[in-house]
Amino acid sequence: MPPKPKNGDAARNAATSIESVLKEKRVFKPSKAFAATAHISSFAAYERLYKLAEKNPDKYWSDVAGKYHWFKKWKKVSLWKEPHAKWFLGGTTNVCYNALDVHLTSGRKNKAALIWEGEPGDERTMTYSQLHREVCKFSNVLKKRGIGKGDRVAIYMGMVPELAIAMLACARLGATHNIIFGGFSSQALVDRINDAKAKMVICADGAFRRGQKINLKSAVDAALKDTPSVENVIVYQRTGETVTMAEGRDHWWHDLMNLAGDHCDAEPLDAEHPLFILYTSGSTGKPKGILHTTGGYMVHAANSHRMVFDLKDDDIYWCTADIGWVTGHSYVVYGPLINGATVFMYEGAPNYPDWGRFWSMIQRHRITIFYTAPTAIRAFIRAGDEWVNKFDLSSLRLLGTVGEPINPEAWMWYYTAIGKKKCPVVDTWWQTETGGIMISPLPGATPLKPGTATRPLPGISVDVVHKDGTPCKANEGGFLVVKRPWPSMLRTIYGDDERYKKQYWSDIAGMYFTGDGARKDKDGYIWIMGRVDDVVNVAGHRLGTSEVESALVAHARVAEAAVVAKPDELKGSALVAFVTLKSGGANPTLELKEELRNHVAREIGPIAKPDEIRFTEALPKTRSGKIMRRLLRELAGGGEVKGDVTTLEDFGILEKLRQNDDD
Ligand code: PRX
Repeated sequence: MPPKPKNGDAARNAATSIESVLKEKRVFKPSKAFAATAHISSFAAYERLYKLAEKNPDKYWSDVAGKYHWFKKWKKVSLWKEPHAKWFLGGTTNVCYNALDVHLTSGRKNKAALIWEGEPGDERTMTYSQLHREVCKFSNVLKKRGIGKGDRVAIYMGMVPELAIAMLACARLGATHNIIFGGFSSQALVDRINDAKAKMVICADGAFRRGQKINLKSAVDAALKDTPSVENVIVYQRTGETVTMAEGRDHWWHDLMNLAGDHCDAEPLDAEHPLFILYTSGSTGKPKGILHTTGGYMVHAANSHRMVFDLKDDDIYWCTADIGWVTGHSYVVYGPLINGATVFMYEGAPNYPDWGRFWSMIQRHRITIFYTAPTAIRAFIRAGDEWVNKFDLSSLRLLGTVGEPINPEAWMWYYTAIGKKKCPVVDTWWQTETGGIMISPLPGATPLKPGTATRPLPGISVDVVHKDGTPCKANEGGFLVVKRPWPSMLRTIYGDDERYKKQYWSDIAGMYFTGDGARKDKDGYIWIMGRVDDVVNVAGHRLGTSEVESALVAHARVAEAAVVAKPDELKGSALVAFVTLKSGGANPTLELKEELRNHVAREIGPIAKPDEIRFTEALPKTRSGKIMRRLLRELAGGGEVKGDVTTLEDFGILEKLRQNDDD
């Protein structure tokens, strides 16, 4: 096994190595026309609001929370006992009630809540009233199968409306959902279901992806051999392929829904009641179950969505993220529905049947707000402008990005080719842990600079600091921290509070450490420089390199593995695995490389497949036995190995790795 990185190592190692090289001078001010109708319409107004919130954060958040429905008002706005925060103490509310029921009397009852397009081209629209009815029915289905407040429910589906219905039904009852991205393997399912001790799995028979049917139920079947906590499985029929149904355990969604009544009251839940667990990668092999609770998450997800996307009642809003990631939780489902938006949702791949698919949907559905990932933008650039230019994109008024740094040239393409220079681009920085957007322009207020998420939202206090917590000078690289708790902050790592403390609160005293390096320019704009720990963003998906290492060493032929990222034009980062084989076996071959790549796909999911495998006789290590990842990163990136190598145990190894490079 590779030695596990010690907590705090990441920050220490990176302390001297964050150097900022980006110099971007372009500035785009909000147009008068956009600002005229924006919720926050000048930079001065943003700064006023920001200062007000800094002066009295509890007052600010209390005013924001007052916009939503509470069964019982909170007694205290926040309580901070480092590293544990509570928000809206004593208050009771229900996120599902805020997402659906409130609209039945607000004039939005017959407004489209969801407009959905399947990959094969089928379409469905559901009004708020219809969605409410479906969610109530499914809540009754869950109740009948013994699900109630506090139970954990795992959900594993493609992007169909029923995924949103399932999560809203859980929220209605106070069951804690644990959504597992449909691209994860059955082993990943086992780990996540067991860690959460889920009582039920909701899945689909399959999903459509790039014209193929992906069988999801078979992955569930394989996983359920090792998940003793699961009592029932509910299967939504999407692709119609043959699946095995275990008598007594597995039930068809449509059979149960046919029998369900359509009245179900939303449960009044304590503001700190667990809403969901979402697993994400950290710097050790075991994924972390990020726990979010009810009141604070709801308040920030909804409020940030309204502010950042400057939402209007006639917008048609499309966030392309899969609901299996946090972006889908906060900005496909909860944020927009609480705001009464019309949400467009698409099931499939961006290039099916061709690279015009997204633009065709924007034209046909008259989408006004479009929120996607830089990795998708880079893929569209590569596919060519001809795909874009075939379509009328004039309905668009606002663009957004999330998930990774966007390089200024990709930003410029997005702004020009998609937004036709009339749509502001909101580059939104946040994390699974933050629950909602933390740093972002406000589109009617903030002058934009390509490549920066600009300034923190009101009520959010971030900074770039040295290891000792002192602020960095303008443009000096350092660590991105959040200095004060915010309502949608993760509450803990599910079942592992010690890891929560170590992971986020031990690197820099008194502050939440994000794991990102950044610099702040003289205008206070934050430029994210990427992760400084062993977490990488590959094609917008967050992966822990040590998870991939654990998967590799689980292969019978592998003795040791170290995985690092190298820059990739399309995916942002690509994974390179350095692998030493056990002695006595056959020679390393191309076939073995392929086998190892496929092995990782089976263990974690295709998103984690290393792009490159390099066999080596040994890995370069420090005298204390730590793998020298910095050296490997430099080798992987094709660069000369620079810097200090005096702690290397065996200089010869480096020479061999370099030679393999030349082969
Ligand atoms: O490194 C930052 C990067 O994505 C990480 C969080 O990943 P995840 O929890 O999967 O959430 C992604 C969607 C919210 C961050 O630590 N990241 C996210 N947004 C940006 C970003 N890097 C630069 N610019 C962004 N806008």
